[in-house]
Amino acid sequence: MALSIEYATALEHQVREVLAQMTLEEKIGQLSLVNGARGDIPDRLREAIIEGRVGAVLNEVDVDTINELQRIAVEESRLGIPLMIGRDVIHGFKTIFPIPLGQAASWNPEVIRTCARIAALEAASTGVNWAYAPMIDIGRDPRWGRIAETLGEDPYLTGVLGAAMVRGFQGDDLAKPGSIAACAKHFAGYGASEGGRDYNTTNITENELRNVHLPPFKEALDAGVATFMVSLSDLDGIPASANAFLLRQILRHEWHYDGFVVSDWESIPQLSVHGLTANDREAAYEAANAGLDMEMVSSTYAEHLGTFVQDGRITLDQIDTMAANVLRAKFRLGLFEHPFTNPADFPAIANPEHLEAARYAALQSAVLLKNDRHTLPLFKDELRSLAVIGPLADDPYEQLGTWIFDGDLQYSQTPLQAIRQSVGDSVAVRFARALETTRSRDHDAFSEAIEAAQQSDVVVLFLGEESILSGEAHCRADIGLPGNQEALIEAIAALGKPVVLVLMAGRPLALEPVLDNVDAILFTWHPGTMAGPAIADLLFGKQVPSGKLPITFPRAAGQIPIYYAHKNTGRPPTPEKVIAIDDIEQRARQFAVGNASFYLDAGDAPLFPFGYGLSYSAFHYANIETSAPEIALGETIAISAELTNVGDYEAEEVAQLYIRDLVGNVTRPVKELKGFQKVRLKPGESTTVTFHLHTDDLAFYNRSMQRVTEPGTFHVWIGGSSEADLRSEFRIVDPEIES
Ligand code: BGC
Repeated sequence: MALSIEYATALEHQVREVLAQMTLEEKIGQLSLVNGARGDIPDRLREAIIEGRVGAVLNEVDVDTINELQRIAVEESRLGIPLMIGRDVIHGFKTIFPIPLGQAASWNPEVIRTCARIAALEAASTGVNWAYAPMIDIGRDPRWGRIAETLGEDPYLTGVLGAAMVRGFQGDDLAKPGSIAACAKHFAGYGASEGGRDYNTTNITENELRNVHLPPFKEALDAGVATFMVSLSDLDGIPASANAFLLRQILRHEWHYDGFVVSDWESIPQLSVHGLTANDREAAYEAANAGLDMEMVSSTYAEHLGTFVQDGRITLDQIDTMAANVLRAKFRLGLFEHPFTNPADFPAIANPEHLEAARYAALQSAVLLKNDRHTLPLFKDELRSLAVIGPLADDPYEQLGTWIFDGDLQYSQTPLQAIRQSVGDSVAVRFARALETTRSRDHDAFSEAIEAAQQSDVVVLFLGEESILSGEAHCRADIGLPGNQEALIEAIAALGKPVVLVLMAGRPLALEPVLDNVDAILFTWHPGTMAGPAIADLLFGKQVPSGKLPITFPRAAGQIPIYYAHKNTGRPPTPEKVIAIDDIEQRARQFAVGNASFYLDAGDAPLFPFGYGLSYSAFHYANIETSAPEIALGETIAISAELTNVGDYEAEEVAQLYIRDLVGNVTRPVKELKGFQKVRLKPGESTTVTFHLHTDDLAFYNRSMQRVTEPGTFHVWIGGSSEADLRSEFRIVDPEIES
């Protein structure tokens, strides 16, 4: 969001004018984010607002309450400064869209922007003006429950999609009604929590931090994100809430960020739990000194910052800077002019347009992982009967996923409902739940399910993970199908009917044990309110799957971390070197079976790679070309390939561009995504997909932590997944050296 110099100067003037009138206590008050009482306004909150001791409130969603809170702030406090009203609006407000990891599988920035736009409108209609999204932590560990909230494993994809989400929440002008402040979180490194266990320690080298974890945050900043939230985690011994390297060096000095940074829930007092500080007082000092502006829920700033100023440990200038960062955001939001909300100014909640966007997002997010013998789509006219089996077939809650505080079940349309509606009376639909929950370990209801399957032409299983198995603090050590689901699949498979497995889950699942027992797998994440219509359209071929994995699916949890953009190592695995545990001869000598980087019992390859996803149609890539064999630093190269729909359906394909920088001052990944395009083609139709890369797009942080593009040879691939093999190459030269 480019702001004119005049606007910035006028804004600064307004901020300074308010600041000049504020007492120290009022300045510190702006740094306090208080948890709401959900509807009631207790006297102590009322008094605190009147006395200017509150800058923001979270978790209120009743419009009358919020308007009353704003009224107290604007009319009864001395300076009339309005409040930020925050809420975890993560993948929808009342209308729920697919979980963020699912939205990322759409590889469609416009879908993500639209979902955030609608979420913003619905939230803003209640007075919420601040969403705690996007979460743009790089997620490379499917055990981590919060993987569901990420946009996947890749810095480039996360950057592009995170920026689209920021644009959706904030619109083209933050001050317009319906625009709400976004929050880039969690700064930084949370996704690297050891072992995929939430809140766990992270140890990330500065080089990896800069090359992998920080780029999406810089993208969000460039998209104009109004606020940042720190991570709850400990980064190399310094928890993010006290990490001056992150908050001062990177965010302020290098990136020139001038919005505010909020703590995470009680993350300042938790500095003492981490063992960084001895008590709340020192925790407040460390956080403020590191550059953390606003405190969420706890009150260490309110209690101690004033005394630090009196003691001279913190300067008034520092407090002014912190308060100014908050005020700037409030001015940008236009809150001083429009503090109140009239729901009538907004489109109705969950109106047909919102539901249609939710259906489309669910459609675009579904990834077809397997489709043997063209099992899908199902042809209604040829079917007489269909068994719909599983605990997730008809559960309006579980299809919504994690973080749906305001999600409204009354709008949910389930797959069973939609299938029944879609086939009408012509197909007998037999439903059996089979398992009470996805975690159930019994098989009491298997016989009913088996009977339904036996009487039907085709079986569609709705399995996976219920909502509570992912999200914050909900990690799993085993990422297979929970409970007795594998046994259910085996029992159904034994009948010899065509079996379609529709999965809902908040993370990649280890599916190897069931892969051979089903004919088709459609992975739908937690698809949201309109799961049913989207899935029915895909099953019956009204729509064609076009999602691609934004994260690698391992064979087994023991392969984690496994991601496509890994380094080569000095001993990379090759097909000749990878040997399976069963093929090793008895009394084999050490190294007789090779010495490469792989697992004897899981090889080196994932089950499904990043970028992978099938279609009912088929696509062929050919004739990769570069616009020149070499370019100079500062120039742009075009890379193109011919893409043809060689199947029978009009369908969309995500064409992906990968590069490899062969030699670097620090080692570079074996492949890096650098571009993608979602293209729709009719059967037999061809198009040329062209990507433009400026040499800056190939920059990385070297061993001196400078961002550089190094001259040399680059491999480049265009294809339908990270395993694309259509390759070309080009060179970058430094004209000053080589000419
Ligand atoms: C989470 C944040 C969230 C906040 C407010 C924390 O526990 O880590 O992502 O925005 O709570 O609910």
